[in-house]
Amino acid sequence: TRNIDLAVIPGDGIGPEVVAQAVRVLEASLHGSDTGVSLTEYSLGAHHWLETGETLSAETLESIRSHEAILFGAVGAAPGDTRIPSGLIERELLLKLRFSLDHCVNLRPSRLYPGTGSPLAEPGDIDFVVVREGTEGPYVGNGGVIRQGTEHEIATEVSLNTAHGVARVVRDAFERAAARPRKKLTLVHKHNVLVHAGHLWRRTVDAIAAEFPEVSVDYLHVDAATIFMVSDPARFDVIVTDNLFGDILTDLAGAVTGGIGLAASGNINLDGTAPSMFEPVHGSAPDIAGKGIADPSAAILSAALLLHHLGLDAAAERIEAAVEQDVQSRAGQGQRSTSEVGDAIVGALLGATV
Ligand code: NAD
Ligand code: IPM
Ligand code: MN
Repeated sequence: TRNIDLAVIPGDGIGPEVVAQAVRVLEASLHGSDTGVSLTEYSLGAHHWLETGETLSAETLESIRSHEAILFGAVGAAPGDTRIPSGLIERELLLKLRFSLDHCVNLRPSRLYPGTGSPLAEPGDIDFVVVREGTEGPYVGNGGVIRQGTEHEIATEVSLNTAHGVARVVRDAFERAAARPRKKLTLVHKHNVLVHAGHLWRRTVDAIAAEFPEVSVDYLHVDAATIFMVSDPARFDVIVTDNLFGDILTDLAGAVTGGIGLAASGNINLDGTAPSMFEPVHGSAPDIAGKGIADPSAAILSAALLLHHLGLDAAAERIEAAVEQDVQSRAGQGQRSTSEVGDAIVGALLGATV
């Protein structure tokens, strides 16, 4: 028998609503197997900062680090909540976790499940994965302001790209491409304008391509990539890109594959020195928080990515199959509540209607 030891960070807004369903589903997927789950919940996020002034203390970070993997909901204050400095929780909790736990690969798969409504008239067979760099780029806070508040103010936000950081993500993307049937890798950047970082990415892809002769490689500028994401998303197999382009592209990818409520992600620590973290691509959705209508599927599919990461592929595949079936059954059902979606998926996993 095995016991998996997870940290759970439900967060703010719809985070706790969707994580509650993901936890039920995760437990149901292991029901009757010889694997148990222990969960340690951490109360962190905007609400926690308002109560305690803590974003993420050193002690809490070390405690989180001691678990095998992390399930994360979403964080972020409601707009107009002027008590919380903009982006504070995102940077000092979410990004701090990604950076401190060296989550260099932000893995964001997109599949259009049969029967899912896509806003595209002819979406085609969409099945790609974005390998988004997770610890560098313009996210590192490398910038500053001088002459603030004057008409001569200068604000910079410098994108940091290291040879090591780019190479490990590019190699991971090639490995994923080599393991997929179509074996195709697309680098997305903007090296016509961002010459310094763009050329580092391009040279790195060219160099590592030599190790993977079976993978075909192409390149798109990010602006053109958004065209193809809408006009022909089925062309993509594995996309590798930097932190900011990957952020933007994966919300778009979610939208074309049936909605952001289905988009899952994993923040992967590649060398196993710290736990990886799994979370929906979406945020705290203050506009629907508390209404019980958030789609928990993205959080549930993130729990499946977590199980894959821990080698529990059979349980992960059971969840993916149950979500796929649930998504197909949606047509004509009208809007269901967060817990009704959870009930349906748990019911499918336990072989009964709950
Ligand atoms: P968002 O993803 O929270 O919401 C965008 C839109 O998608 C909203 O209309 C929302 O209702 C809808 N939506 C999101 N998830 C949904 C779901 N599961 N089911 C149905 N509809 C869903 O993005 P935003 O509005 O830009 O950000 C809100 C807050 O969340 C901000 O504070 C932002 O910084 C934060 N954020 C956090 C994370 C994270 O914790 N990983 C990710 C993105 C944004
Ligand atoms: C995401 C979010 C985060 C990001 C924010 C909240 C820091 O948008 O996970 O996609 O930009 O990475
Ligand atoms: Mn995002």
